[in-house]
Amino acid sequence: MEFRHKMKPLADQLLHYLLKSLNIPGELVQIWAESTDKVSGTIQLNSYPPCPDPRHVLGLAPHTDTLLLTLLNQCQISGLQYFRDDIGWISVPPVPGAFVVNVGDTLEILSNGKFPSAYHRVTVNENKHRISYAYFHGPSMDSPAEPLDKAEKPLYRSMTVREYCAIKAKHNEEALGLVKL
Ligand code: OGA
Ligand code: NI
Repeated sequence: MEFRHKMKPLADQLLHYLLKSLNIPGELVQIWAESTDKVSGTIQLNSYPPCPDPRHVLGLAPHTDTLLLTLLNQCQISGLQYFRDDIGWISVPPVPGAFVVNVGDTLEILSNGKFPSAYHRVTVNENKHRISYAYFHGPSMDSPAEPLDKAEKPLYRSMTVREYCAIKAKHNEEALGLVKL
């Protein structure tokens, strides 16, 4: 509870700055920033035991996170990798005292693709047990998941966050492509 209590204002503030940097009216930024008020973020604890043959096993399959922002503590053992179109999979070394911040699918939709959600996976370690913990920051399920800047041609169709989560649960990594216009 203490962790959640501290993470929420941090995630709220980050979201506020990210939304503010888009070309949308201040009131809308406020409404959106407040839309996370009623919900408490989800915390996920991940445990990756050592694996004798790490080349053939993944700790977590490639995915994007569904909600707005994820704040992740890697606990000093590397394993997290991001996919970059130009390079392929790259490792993200843990930085003491720092959180990794992922943009999730919902923020990609709100920003009309300006903040692409991060495609990532986790590898395992031959002799070290890795632990990580993530705080998933999301709006209420009834919030609209649609591009906020109405002056732009929307690249995603309008739906609620609940509807998008249902599409994601069914179609996994195909979900974003399915809601693109
Ligand atoms: C996740 C995730 C990464 C990690 O929980 O969604 O991507 O390093 N975790 O455990
Ligand atoms: Ni993830």
